Amino acid sequence: MVPSSIRSPHRPDPPPGRPQARSLGFEAYSDPAVYADERARLFHPAVGPLFISHRSLLDGAGHAAGEADDRVLLTSEDGGTVRAFANVCTHAMRPLVASRERLSQACVTCPYHLWSFRRDGSFIGGPGMVLDPTQRDALGLREFPLVQWRGNFFAGAAAADEAFQRDLALVDGAFVSLGRSDWLDFADWRLIAAEEEVYQGDWKSFMEVYGDCYHVPPFHDGLASFADCDTLQWTFGDSVHLQALQLSAEQGRRSPNYRAWCDGLQRYYALRGEPEPKLAVIWSAFYPNLMIEFYNGLRVISVLVPQGPTAYLNRVRYYVPADMEALVPGLPATILAAYRETEVQDKALNESRHLGLARAQELGLDAATYLPNLSGPQPELGTVHFHTWWRRRMDWPAEGVGPASLPLP
Ligand SMILES: [Fe+2]
Repeated sequence: MVPSSIRSPHRPDPPPGRPQARSLGFEAYSDPAVYADERARLFHPAVGPLFISHRSLLDGAGHAAGEADDRVLLTSEDGGTVRAFANVCTHAMRPLVASRERLSQACVTCPYHLWSFRRDGSFIGGPGMVLDPTQRDALGLREFPLVQWRGNFFAGAAAADEAFQRDLALVDGAFVSLGRSDWLDFADWRLIAAEEEVYQGDWKSFMEVYGDCYHVPPFHDGLASFADCDTLQWTFGDSVHLQALQLSAEQGRRSPNYRAWCDGLQRYYALRGEPEPKLAVIWSAFYPNLMIEFYNGLRVISVLVPQGPTAYLNRVRYYVPADMEALVPGLPATILAAYRETEVQDKALNESRHLGLARAQELGLDAATYLPNLSGPQPELGTVHFHTWWRRRMDWPAEGVGPASLPLP
């Protein structure tokens, strides 16, 4: 018979006087009730701040379903105004635009009964309908607040709040401090690939891995020889964090793809007559589910789309400088291959967390589900920051080990 709880003898109490992380308990993961609460508190486009799409999604389109959330319809006026609406027809609640659909018609027309709406959400009419103006006004689409920052659209009342605006200013300031304010805007870069991958597990495990630089040296040979984890610099806001790493002196030598990335960058900057930036990457996270990765030579927008309590999609868009392929033929494909090499490794890391949580729970192990390493350069501080944010936003009790809030730098 398996005992109801087993305390592992290999889990010492954290030493006194050191910041102690309060990891989330088993009950926080893969639970339908918790997931429903997350949908209402963290993933609601009226609440926010919730990333919906990058501006490049609307290039050449008048309206589209949000890349990060297809419950949201984005429309773009000719003058450039972008609005967000519930992607639901007011006739009979059917979705107006399918997931990943981009349309260029002058108005939004429901495919089922041809009810039509202007891009400002107002109702035009439907076949055979005779309405007075008051009735017509009542049939407009439900609008959500929308904020644009650096080509990224965030929905929800909280997107305009002081806390989120302070976070965005903090990110701007961090890029200035790192000497790379020119990296933030990549509207003129070229989209070279867009894809999605299904992951098994709770979406939170992906954000945990993203805030964990601890696994990079042992688990990502190629990446660790491209970006030097000993140079890790953290920046923390209310609902964002950044990790900045310098290029490694190893020049990608532990992976042919990363080696070719480093060699290609040297040729690219030489041909442009520019000094090569010493920065390898700035990884940014915007909770709950957005990651924008600013690599030397590559930008990646990665957004998690939960599919329920035990599965999620990772939707990814890749951008390179518009002149890269012409100057160094094949370099964009090489960079993409290097990134995917790391992505495959990270998938194993993400899904093994799901497997391990389920196993530990089945075995009745009574232990913290996560013991982040906060010594030295504190390589898992991003994970701790995410857990702390999640507890606050979910209004979860401050039980477990550790203080109510962590003394973050
Ligand atoms: Fe990783």
